[in-house]
Amino acid sequence: MDGSHLADLLVTKNYEVFGTVRNSSAAKMLNIKHLLNNSKIHLVKGDLTNRQSLLRCLKAAEPDEVYNLAGQSSVGISWDTPEETSEVTGVGTLRLLEAIREYGKKIRFCQASSSEIFGNTTNFYPWDKMPKKEKSDESTPFDPRSPYGVSKLFAHCLTKNYRQNFGMFNCSAILFNHEGPRRSSIFVTRKISETVAKIALGLAKSISLGDLNARRDWGYAPEYVEAMWLMLQQNKPDDYVIATGISHNIRDFLNCAFKYIGIADWRNYIVVDERYIRLAEPDVLCGDASKAKRLLGWEPKMKFEKMVEEMVQNDLDRLAHVSR
Ligand code: GDD
Repeated sequence: MDGSHLADLLVTKNYEVFGTVRNSSAAKMLNIKHLLNNSKIHLVKGDLTNRQSLLRCLKAAEPDEVYNLAGQSSVGISWDTPEETSEVTGVGTLRLLEAIREYGKKIRFCQASSSEIFGNTTNFYPWDKMPKKEKSDESTPFDPRSPYGVSKLFAHCLTKNYRQNFGMFNCSAILFNHEGPRRSSIFVTRKISETVAKIALGLAKSISLGDLNARRDWGYAPEYVEAMWLMLQQNKPDDYVIATGISHNIRDFLNCAFKYIGIADWRNYIVVDERYIRLAEPDVLCGDASKAKRLLGWEPKMKFEKMVEEMVQNDLDRLAHVSR
């Protein structure tokens, strides 16, 4: 999702864009289908588990800017594949930083970091005694709650270490959840928009979900990639929280999605399935992006309700032919 939005943005700015693909991702080009014939877009084989392949990508592209959006990005799946997640999302970023160092030319690097690095902010730690902030910002202590969060924190810290020790122009974008029609349906927002569209079209009867009270700060993906681009246009590299500052729970998302298809009471369409309930959840759910506003001039514009409607409408359009 993010790679496709970033490619869209960079093409409008006249960039030559090199996107890395793995052998196994060959079939999943749906989000960049509209870009494949664009002469500014190039696909190169690269894999975060293979440093030589990353070095080959750098040599082929000779980039001015590198954005690391790759990785095993599902928090839930990271409990089933903790080693693979650490290997790709964590150590994979280290391989990329090392490949950039070995490549040797000046590159501006942006790491897609995550709000999952904050995780738990209660119990056990000395910083519990610090006054707790309602929203997470760049000074909030890290205490991730999943193999995914831990891997992202490893990558986040190394991005900073390589900046401090080797003078690299490295930025981390601490991204809160960001969604849109191109989101994969392994994530809850798209799972809802897709199934709600199916219900409207008579293709499904219910949605199986985990904790309906789970809260997130849900922003709009195209705006978040713009923030990443802005970070790399500054005079100095730095880390920035990117968030809307407003949290909603899954019930709010369901309200908007079902309202859009004309259903006010959606309770009978929901099946709560234990399999989707997480072992642990982060407890800081909302981000404070005032540093990004102050220094990058970035602020979120898309309204939550409008984003949900856009997602449901996209799935209605996509699935309409199936119901005919
Ligand atoms: N995926 C999923 N499926 N989540 C569910 C479901 C379900 O059926 N039911 C409830 N949830 C809850 C999860 O327990 C979680 O609290 C919340 O919905 C959001 O889950 P996801 O959409 O899977 O996203 P995430 O918050 O775990 O992670 C996303 O955001 C992070 C922060 O930006 C991912 O995009 C990460 O890669 C990203 O770092």
